[in-house]
Amino acid sequence: MLNELFHTVRFGSVGMFCQSARLNQVPASIIVGTQWGDEGKGRFADLLAKDMSMVVRYQGGHNAGHTLVVDGEKFALQLVPSGVLYDHITPVIGNGVVVDPFVLLAEMKTLTDRGVDCSRLKVSGNAHLIMPYHQQLDALQERHLGSAKLGTTKRGIGPAYADKALRVGIRVQDLLDESIFRKKIEAVLSHTNKILTKAFNRLPVDPDELADKVLEQCLEGLKPHIADTVDLVHNDLEAGKNILFEGAQATFLDIDHGTYPFVTSSNPTSGGACPGAGVGPKHIERVIGVAKAYVTRVGAGPFPTELFDEVGDHFVDVGHEYGTNTGRRRRTGWVDAVMLRHAVRLNGLTELAITKLDVLDMLDKVKICVAYDLDGEEVTKLPYHQSQVHKATPVYQEFSGWKTDLTSVKDPADLPAEAKTFLDALEEQVGVPIRYVSIGPSRKQYVDFGAV
Ligand code: GDP
Ligand code: IMO
Ligand code: MG
Repeated sequence: MLNELFHTVRFGSVGMFCQSARLNQVPASIIVGTQWGDEGKGRFADLLAKDMSMVVRYQGGHNAGHTLVVDGEKFALQLVPSGVLYDHITPVIGNGVVVDPFVLLAEMKTLTDRGVDCSRLKVSGNAHLIMPYHQQLDALQERHLGSAKLGTTKRGIGPAYADKALRVGIRVQDLLDESIFRKKIEAVLSHTNKILTKAFNRLPVDPDELADKVLEQCLEGLKPHIADTVDLVHNDLEAGKNILFEGAQATFLDIDHGTYPFVTSSNPTSGGACPGAGVGPKHIERVIGVAKAYVTRVGAGPFPTELFDEVGDHFVDVGHEYGTNTGRRRRTGWVDAVMLRHAVRLNGLTELAITKLDVLDMLDKVKICVAYDLDGEEVTKLPYHQSQVHKATPVYQEFSGWKTDLTSVKDPADLPAEAKTFLDALEEQVGVPIRYVSIGPSRKQYVDFGAV
């Protein structure tokens, strides 16, 4: 009864998910982070992959860390798409991703050693390569910025995308033609070496040595996986199969729509899936925005609801808020509906997946930021001038905590009244249905409000 009530409340007005069978007819879905990353996109991509034929990463690189916990085993993926654990999935690294070939091969080896079959993995020939000099430049540029540094992952993401935009990047397909590959390395290094030596006082990179190393160590392992991934994606779409596009990073790390310059160098927002995988928007039906029940951020940049008190420490300690790959302590704060409303607009979200609700379990009070106070004026939309985001003071709605362990809840009807009140208020504030709520890191620890 409560289940039905919840379903009516959450989906009654939108009317999208009344037939669960319909979910399986949706051609393409996108998973996108709605905050500053690490929302739990990977675990929901893994969950949804069950009903898909393909999971396609469309941007970013190994700055991502996507954690899956299945049958007590933990997998921390960087470049390999989250569908890899299923035998029926073709995991695809799309053209919009920047690929460090050494990292990809190491990740595939680690997974293979753990019994995960990576043979179906496809990598777009049009994806750009991250080379060691990109990582070196990333670290040098950060050091050069001093206290104004961005706090990048130092994985070479920005410099690799910069070379792509400058049209001196090296693509995965270049590996297949040795003379082209060598020429391109030489061409880009004639410019990059000037930066390394003259701007940063470093040694130049030898083009032949680098080309030899990459060809010797990476070509054989990568060759069987290099593919025309646009063709693969469209073959599946034309065959009526379902595809999941898996965003890395998040809406407010988007180079166009995020808190620039404290952003990554790609478009994680849902629209990025179109150029990043080679599909038109007409194929996309579901856009699932993943949001933590609170907020975290790694690296510098504005964060209106950031906490510096014991609640902030609680989120770090109970939520284990340390980077999946970099180990950095994440900044934490209350969930921010102002930002989430903006994320709905930017991504065309059809629904939300709220993660880590269990981390709030033992708090006396829980809060949602519903507006910002800007010099005494209350605003409910994200200010377009970033200086205002930097100085925004959050206006909160406060609720009683539920003080109950949620980690084994399976049915929405079993959620305590206080948790329902919190979720209802969040849904009302954000304006799209909450479809899923996770209450623990394992694949099975979630509640589905659409499965009535
Ligand atoms: P992603 O980058 O968006 O895929 O997220 P990360 O994997 O970087 O960070 C999410 C972290 O939260 C991982 O350690 C997950 O195992 C964990 N996690 C995901 N969902 C839940 C949840 O509902 N509850 C708890 N306690 N942990 C979760
Ligand atoms: P997933 O996919 C959280 C952040 C970095 C830094 C900024 C720029 O796991 O959610 P970059 O190395 O991309 O040039 O760094 O973006 N960042 C992330 N933060 N999760 C991520 O990925 C991130 N990828 C990049 O911390 O602030
Ligand atoms: Mg992550």
